[in-house]
Amino acid sequence: MSESKGTSGAGIEHGSEHESIKRLLAREGAGGEAVVRGWLRTVRHGKGVSFLDVSDGSCLAGLQVVANPETEGFEPVVRGLATGCALEARGSLVDSPGQGQRYELHATSVVLVGDAGEGYPLQKKRHSFEFLRTIAHLRPRTNTIGAVLRVRNAAAMAIHDFFQREEFLYLHTPIVTASDAEGAGEMFRVTTLPELDPPRDESGAVDYREDFFGRPTFLTVSGQLEAEIGALALSRVYTFGPTFRAENSNTARHLAEFWMIEPEAAFLDLAGLAALAERFLKSVFRDVLERCEEDMAFFEKRVESQAIVRMRKVIDEPFERIPYREAIAILERSGEAFEFPVRFGLDLQSEHERWLTEQHVGRPVVVTDWPASIKAFYMYRNDDEETVAAMDVLVGGVGEIIGGSQREHRLEILERTIRAQGLDPEHYWWYLDLRRYGSVPHAGFGLGFERIVQFMTGMANIRDVIPFPRTPGQAEF
Ligand code: 4AD
Ligand code: MG
Repeated sequence: MSESKGTSGAGIEHGSEHESIKRLLAREGAGGEAVVRGWLRTVRHGKGVSFLDVSDGSCLAGLQVVANPETEGFEPVVRGLATGCALEARGSLVDSPGQGQRYELHATSVVLVGDAGEGYPLQKKRHSFEFLRTIAHLRPRTNTIGAVLRVRNAAAMAIHDFFQREEFLYLHTPIVTASDAEGAGEMFRVTTLPELDPPRDESGAVDYREDFFGRPTFLTVSGQLEAEIGALALSRVYTFGPTFRAENSNTARHLAEFWMIEPEAAFLDLAGLAALAERFLKSVFRDVLERCEEDMAFFEKRVESQAIVRMRKVIDEPFERIPYREAIAILERSGEAFEFPVRFGLDLQSEHERWLTEQHVGRPVVVTDWPASIKAFYMYRNDDEETVAAMDVLVGGVGEIIGGSQREHRLEILERTIRAQGLDPEHYWWYLDLRRYGSVPHAGFGLGFERIVQFMTGMANIRDVIPFPRTPGQAEF
């Protein structure tokens, strides 16, 4: 063993090539030598033989390692292995007689790399998702969370692939910002002012002119305003980054930190935007179904029996388009006993969204042309003066998955709305400038990344589709 490669205390080489379990299982045929490195899921000791289920996270399946007294390290290593330890096994890959596994590894040697001490919390039994959230540092080793994280990865790549194919440029918008993109006042403050005795202005208020950026700054709630800058120069851009909302909603669909994908395109109207959203979702679902066959089959079997059917429906069937006004009329006529009121001028609640898409239409629904009074300042004012060219895309199980709009590109109307919503046009001077210099109709939407992962996997709680959830009172890991 050469020194330059470095060795662990256990005497294994780091950095040397070895195949993931996913690659091993995809080999053309059995017979070759193989090395597996991973974590022990379970171990079964028989007379003169031990079966180790080893996982490395590359795929849902683990690899069964079979060890016997001929295996180097059988006594005492293999016989003393504990669930959760890290190990390396070498041997030959042979066809497995067992059900549901293609190959197994007949080990010539097993090396313990990292022992699992007393009290490893992940045992063979099923743990509740609530419990797993309390051990977010270990839960990626479970089947379900591992599968979620692989689907998440595949979805992220599918999203990039779609936009790259459609000639959208990936634009990196800032995380620290001085402007409230949604105008909803749900921002986390970013400051380096001292907690005790911060500087005060003449009126006694905290003086943010003394703060790091010389003004009040926050974590962004959306990259949209900067994406619009991009679209009005590069024609088509998209962002894909973390966004933060200090809304105190403890629901299964809200996070205080979530990832959002925000395409923005010049020379695009609401109808074009809805078509883009439909092409986009279909493309992402198609890719994920293809790339995550095994994980998706797992979700269908163990988490949500409709997971794959739902995705196929989105892929195969056209989205319905319903103006908000009509959606309200449909809901009023439905005879359903909703918990929340339904009236023109009120936002749709999750129960309304789900009824519309699941019960009434049975397909994804794009609700368009919302009352201006409940929407953000930047949306294009329709001729009726009452509604804006906004859309929400609703899907079964989740409800709103996408929110977007055509943007107000007319300077006077935008200025008027900003004032009417109690915001200060001065703060939005550069945003208004875009309407002064070469303004064009443009549109964009935001997709909540965790909402789409929830939809695909059927996971009931959004906290279980992000590695490290941030919710009110929770920021442990
Ligand atoms: O509808 P929203 O608030 O729209 C915007 O932020 C626009 N600036 C987007 C744009 O037009 N560029 O948020 C967009 C999506 C929602 O449809 C939802 O999927 C998700 O982001 N979302 C959340 N996901 C998890 N936790 C939260 N607290 C979320 N708030 C919104
Ligand atoms: Mg919305």
